Amino acid sequence: MVKIDNLVLPDFPLLLAPMEDVSDPPFRAVCKDNGADLMYTEFISSEALIRDAIKSRKKLDIFDYERPIGIQIFGGDEDSLAMASRIVDVTNPDLLDINFGCPVKKVACKGAGAGVLKDIDLMVRLTAACVKATKLPVTVKTRLGWDDATKNIEEVAERLQDVGIKALSIHGRTRCQMYKGEADWTLIGKVKNNPRIHIPIFGNGDIESPQKALEYKNRYGVDGIMIGRAAIGYPWIFREIKHYVQTGEVMAPPTLEERVAVCKKHLRKSLEWKGPKVGIFEMRRHYANYLKGLPNIKEYRNRLVILNTLEEIESVLDEVLAAYQGFEAPHIPIELINYHEKCPV
Ligand SMILES: Cc1cc2nc3c(=O)[nH]c(=O)nc-3n(C[C@H](O)[C@H](O)[C@H](O)COP(=O)(O)O)c2cc1C
Repeated sequence: MVKIDNLVLPDFPLLLAPMEDVSDPPFRAVCKDNGADLMYTEFISSEALIRDAIKSRKKLDIFDYERPIGIQIFGGDEDSLAMASRIVDVTNPDLLDINFGCPVKKVACKGAGAGVLKDIDLMVRLTAACVKATKLPVTVKTRLGWDDATKNIEEVAERLQDVGIKALSIHGRTRCQMYKGEADWTLIGKVKNNPRIHIPIFGNGDIESPQKALEYKNRYGVDGIMIGRAAIGYPWIFREIKHYVQTGEVMAPPTLEERVAVCKKHLRKSLEWKGPKVGIFEMRRHYANYLKGLPNIKEYRNRLVILNTLEEIESVLDEVLAAYQGFEAPHIPIELINYHEKCPV
């Protein structure tokens, strides 16, 4: 088992990465059903939380069935982070995560997110402020460093552990890489194998198959893996990795019935949490992923994205089920969308 302070996770836990506009409660519900061991909210600005920004407060919504769950915050100011930590405390998640990895200009260039990687002393002060302000275990998610010339994650890990963080997730890219190139796990492995480090180290970046997850587990010795993009439209990635790690066998992909059932659950949860208008609108981006690989599916997809009621959408999904009866859904390799231009973080 893996322990984050007093929180006990199973051996080699699989974490759902925090993803802005993706890791909301409806998406988390289907990832939880399929084996995510620890999940995070989207990142929340400490300043916005303090201003009582409605959208940010809504991101604090967590549900008991999601546990264990962490709330992620970001900010570049000690007082704001401390105050935001106290606000998070009241909502009682299982842990508080600080984002020191966000590479976008509006965050990193204001001295928050990955911007803090340029100033480890500041990073340590910000972390200490959170640790002091909350009774929750504090964890950090970050990158290898600011750029190729300053990959300081080994020092960062030691110093953050010294000020009291209880686990560290490392995305194997620098800030300047954004999402370009391949994630490099070498330094993640080095941090994990540093005898001074005793907190769990979770590796993150480009895991998109059970085979790669097991290979990286064995090669780098990390305590667990955090998965982001591969879970988008494919929450089954968690159970497939678990099955492969435990048995060495590749699990059959989800059946069409399952794909449709999970898509419907995601839709219903979306409506419950966001209300009918936003719930239906924001669900539109997900149909293509859930129905990927079905031949000539475009006609159905085009209809799904213009409908406005739950009943109509569910009825088209039932039509898909009937039309593709007996169709063996192929195992489509998950593509990691290159978010470095489009992606907010
Ligand atoms: C759409 C999107 C939104 C993201 N939002 C966040 C975020 O709010 N907080 C964070 O720490 N990382 C965020 N990330 C980074 C992911 O957590 C993760 O580190 C990154 O996608 C690499 O993992 P992957 O290769 O498994 O996707 C985001 C990534 C994507 C694609």
